[in-house]
Amino acid sequence: MCGIIGYVGKQDAMPVLVGGLRRMEYRGYDSAGIALVSGGHTAVVKRKGKITNLADALTAKKPTGMTGIGHTRWATHGVPNEVNAHPHQAGHITIVHNGIIENYADLKERLIKDHGRKFESETDTEVLAHLISVKREKDESLEAAVLSALLEVEGTFAVLVLDERDPDKIVAARRGSPLLVGIADDAIFLASDATAVIGHTDRVVYMEDDEIAICTPGKYEIIDFKAQHKRHEEQQIKLELKAIEKAGYDHFLLKEIMEQPKTIADILRGRLDLDAGTSHLGGLNTDPKFYQQMTRFLTIGCGTAYYAGLLGQYLLERMTGLPVDVEFASEFRYREPVVNGHTLGMIVTQSGETADTLASLRELKRRGTRTLGLVNVVGSSVAREVDGGVYLHAGPEISVASTKAFTAQVIAQILVGLQIGRSRKLSATDGKAIVRALEALPAQVQSILDQHERIKAISAKFADAKNVMYLGRDALYPVALEGALKLKEISYIHTEAYPAGEMKHGPVALIDEELPIVYFHPKNDLYDKTRSNLEEVRARGGRLIIVGTEGDESLKEFSDDVIYIPDAHAYTQPILANIPMQLFAYYVAVSRGTDVDQPRNLAKSVTVE
Ligand code: F6R
Repeated sequence: MCGIIGYVGKQDAMPVLVGGLRRMEYRGYDSAGIALVSGGHTAVVKRKGKITNLADALTAKKPTGMTGIGHTRWATHGVPNEVNAHPHQAGHITIVHNGIIENYADLKERLIKDHGRKFESETDTEVLAHLISVKREKDESLEAAVLSALLEVEGTFAVLVLDERDPDKIVAARRGSPLLVGIADDAIFLASDATAVIGHTDRVVYMEDDEIAICTPGKYEIIDFKAQHKRHEEQQIKLELKAIEKAGYDHFLLKEIMEQPKTIADILRGRLDLDAGTSHLGGLNTDPKFYQQMTRFLTIGCGTAYYAGLLGQYLLERMTGLPVDVEFASEFRYREPVVNGHTLGMIVTQSGETADTLASLRELKRRGTRTLGLVNVVGSSVAREVDGGVYLHAGPEISVASTKAFTAQVIAQILVGLQIGRSRKLSATDGKAIVRALEALPAQVQSILDQHERIKAISAKFADAKNVMYLGRDALYPVALEGALKLKEISYIHTEAYPAGEMKHGPVALIDEELPIVYFHPKNDLYDKTRSNLEEVRARGGRLIIVGTEGDESLKEFSDDVIYIPDAHAYTQPILANIPMQLFAYYVAVSRGTDVDQPRNLAKSVTVE
């Protein structure tokens, strides 16, 4: 979702801004723009579409300046076009903004009526630019104007503000949308995420909600909305440039699928204890008594993270004997949730910035619930606000579609289940079996990835499908949901996912000779039951793609398109079953020529609700 970059320093700002925007392309956007201040004048260049369009326009116009701001926009108010693209200007003021100004209509009416302001775009951001400009006419400093404007605003924002009469300054503010300050000797960087500043500096400060940063070359000061000075610890970003590059792959998505043996090893490193059949998690940060006394898990996430939570439900209930409820964050946040001091709120998120997930976390905390974050992005809002956490260590996930983070989110839940389960009903023998299963995972995943040519060939047969159905039972039902989501978001094929046993209660009506059906049928406790459901599908003529266990020759009677996964423990089998579906979705999307890494309409980190 919208990316923000700012630079105030001693160098030409343009390459920093364009480079930063390119690094944040993965967040998803539909237009881009920059503003540079020089000689008391602001040059604004913006374009609809890809950053390449903006870069071409900049090459032609060659604006210069050592202070500048840039933006990739994911449209909320107003269609994606050049006029609605950021930056927006009002008099001497220029701003970029991520978030939503909820009371923009009232503010706009007042600005027109009382101040005769005229608007060019349909955006809420232009309203904020005018509000700051009106305040600046009265206030002494730019920061005072920004503060007094923001006190009238309802909604969320990460905003960077320039005033061409004060050319060596950027004022930044945050509420609800991520923003960090990057610190170098003679420059300050501002960005929505750390990927935009790597290579320039590894020193950052993460801004908190309702804070304003006043930035000049090499210096920054943070104040809160009461104008009180705030101090934050500087953090060191440990990301390397190569972690956010494609490393020779055609797409980030393929790179991220292929690197899973490594990311799995990373999340497990130092956390498994085979002798005790348990895990060691340093960040749980809770009195062990809490885990003995807790009565319930409440797992919250969106999209793929929600499906990871749903999969975790099957596993955690078995490992701990505790009930697990799983909720969509967007639904949960407006309910009257029933929680108590014995509930563990488990917040699952790759980015740690998803607006609904963050709001749900805050709602849980407001109600006194203990929270545990399963988070990938270090230093993200969720990571900072939860009581305890398990980092996913999956490395930067650049492709919009989540793959390696899903795998890590499921593994993190097994690690939590081991620790809590062992203090409750999970025996040492069962714990050891799970630890061994986890240790075997990297090599097993690699053996599936090694079949990529075969999976590619199968995918080619289904690239023209209009609909695809996914069926699985038990913990393979969430895998069906996740497989269906992956295919629909990157190939734009309509997909459905159902529990295989539920199919005959309605979806069976969809099956004909044309409909491709991905059917999860590996060897497990429900194998015979799942076989009956498979017969029902076959009887109606669906085109089957079966995911089964190596050596199960009987599956070939049902289809030529069988993908084999290694025999595995019941808790790691769903993780393995998901891997070929990531590759299947990828190759189908590539055959259809879609924008695999940045599928249409989607954003990586959904920072608006
Ligand atoms: C799907 C996908 C999304 C995210 C969802 C939550 O491939 O990427 O469904 O899983 O937007 O994002 P995080 O995990 O960052 O909270």
